[in-house]
Amino acid sequence: MNTSKDAWHAVALSREVRTKPVRILHEGEPVVLFRGKSGIAALVDRCPHRRVELSKGRVVQGDIECPYHGWRFGGDGQCSAIPGHLGDVPRYRVKRYQALEQDGAIFISNGTPDAPPYVHCMIGQKIALRHVHSSSASTLIDAAENILDVAHTHFTHKGLLRGFSAKRYNVDVTITGGKDWVEACYTGEDRQDGLISRLLDGERTKTIGRFRSPGIVELEYWGPKEMTIATAFHLNTADVETVNGVGWIMAPDHGVITWAKSLLFKPMMHFALAQDQRVLKSAQNNARFAPDSKIINGPLDFLRTDMELILAGERPTAADAPRHHTIEL
Ligand code: FES
Ligand SMILES: [Fe+2]
Repeated sequence: MNTSKDAWHAVALSREVRTKPVRILHEGEPVVLFRGKSGIAALVDRCPHRRVELSKGRVVQGDIECPYHGWRFGGDGQCSAIPGHLGDVPRYRVKRYQALEQDGAIFISNGTPDAPPYVHCMIGQKIALRHVHSSSASTLIDAAENILDVAHTHFTHKGLLRGFSAKRYNVDVTITGGKDWVEACYTGEDRQDGLISRLLDGERTKTIGRFRSPGIVELEYWGPKEMTIATAFHLNTADVETVNGVGWIMAPDHGVITWAKSLLFKPMMHFALAQDQRVLKSAQNNARFAPDSKIINGPLDFLRTDMELILAGERPTAADAPRHHTIEL
């Protein structure tokens, strides 16, 4: 089974890495991304000479040059030049990550993944696509749960995802899973009253929220004929206090209508994201005062335990025993 170490992690959008090196944080480690001689490169962002940030330097002929004494390193991590030194360059090296670019994002791995990254559910289809990149003061599990959490929308996103009225509908929920994923499928929701739903959805037949190892969160909104819109967020732990997300927003391409909708969707999604970031930050700030306090898994927190199992590299319980619930949403 893929551990988090052997998995691909989406850490940046392709468009964010141009000619200048870019520093990111991945699981507590600073990493510099740059365009090397053979494509995208990812090295630990610390010059092995005197620990200066390589990302503060520049890229010269596909190698990264440290701003302090000008040592250069290739995309493979090997030192390629020591200015002022005559003779062969000693075999110094800086730790490298596997790196590749796919579907508009940059993926890195600390291990040796045996397959290309899973990106989203509409790969290969004719879709309209938008990319987003966000950062939240939270943990991977809390941020993933937040995206999949239906119970918070009435409160955190009043008016945007839900209507202003307290009207709720009976909804059936089915939880299923597999080796490294778990999903909740909601039916009977009808149409939601919030602004985003009014704009984007016609009739809604089902909504699916899915979590996949190592931190991929997918939402799918289905109409009677097809999936009308879907999002895939790849969450990545930057450090203990921060989780980053690289996201894809997709819809089947129906020309100008899709284009207009996606244009409207993005700012509204950013607005919803800011609302989520506020509550997640509030929880993080507050947790400092009681770091050992336990949280409650309530009756609507369908996915949390299985998500924790998946993150621990274990099989979720829903993979062997699907669950059914009826709730008022
Ligand atoms: S610290 Fe990087 S070259 Fe000296
Ligand atoms: Fe939310």
